Amino acid sequence: MENSLKKHIDRDKLPRHIAIIMDGNGRWAKQKGNERIFGHKSGVKAVRETVEAAAELGVGYLTLYAFSTENWNRPRTEIDALMSLLVTSLDKEIDNLMENNIRLEAIGDIESLPNKVKSNLRQAIRKTSPNTGMTLILALSYSARWEILDAMKSIAKKIESGELTAKEISCDHFTDQLQTHNIPDPELLIRTSGEYRISNFLLWQIAYAELYFTQTLWPDFGKEDLYAAICNFQKRERRFGKISEQVVS
Ligand code: IPE
Ligand code: IPE
Ligand code: MG
Repeated sequence: MENSLKKHIDRDKLPRHIAIIMDGNGRWAKQKGNERIFGHKSGVKAVRETVEAAAELGVGYLTLYAFSTENWNRPRTEIDALMSLLVTSLDKEIDNLMENNIRLEAIGDIESLPNKVKSNLRQAIRKTSPNTGMTLILALSYSARWEILDAMKSIAKKIESGELTAKEISCDHFTDQLQTHNIPDPELLIRTSGEYRISNFLLWQIAYAELYFTQTLWPDFGKEDLYAAICNFQKRERRFGKISEQVVS
């Protein structure tokens, strides 16, 4: 594309890990006079575009929030439609993942997913495991509080068994107990659809992430939207508590 923002991206300063709260499918469909599920179906194309764009640029990790613990409270028909969309999408996208050398992983309460979703997910994870390019992480039946509680429970067990003392618990130790223990923290968090909230996503891991909000509804999100978010990220000064002069030098 002639006027693509891609050429403005500094490849040496890419966010190592981008996390996205893909929001607005329902409203997108409603605006078009369609059922909510039509929005979810249309969101799959945005997923493909974003994954391809991120992998092409050389982003190391991309985490997509696809279904939250709280989303189980939606109407049964919508949950069922989302689950079967997951099954077909995993099936369809596997070749694309292989072609782009992408490794798939998942975080969340995977056990709570329907059997067919679980088996397709496991198969895709197994098949893509030798790939050496970008790691794509799907957050499914995920909530940060659930993940943090789970980590706390494993630490508590270690204390009970005498393997660990309360004094020994460090930030690193806690991070090691999270599902994301082998994934660096996101440096850029994007949320679409004009909502300014985190909705229980990666609470521990985004402690120092740069937040980027866009009005674009998820099905309309494409490569250029990702480039715009990365360009915006690259203009920011990340100080990590220090003062500007310290960071510049
Ligand atoms: C995001 O779109 C997809 C999921 C949460 C599964 P929504 O379904 O939340 O769409 P809106 O926010 O209602 O428009
Ligand atoms: C957050 O979107 C979860 C996902 C994108 C999967 P929601 O649409 O569920 O979030 P709320 O309800 O607006 O906070
Ligand atoms: Mg929503």
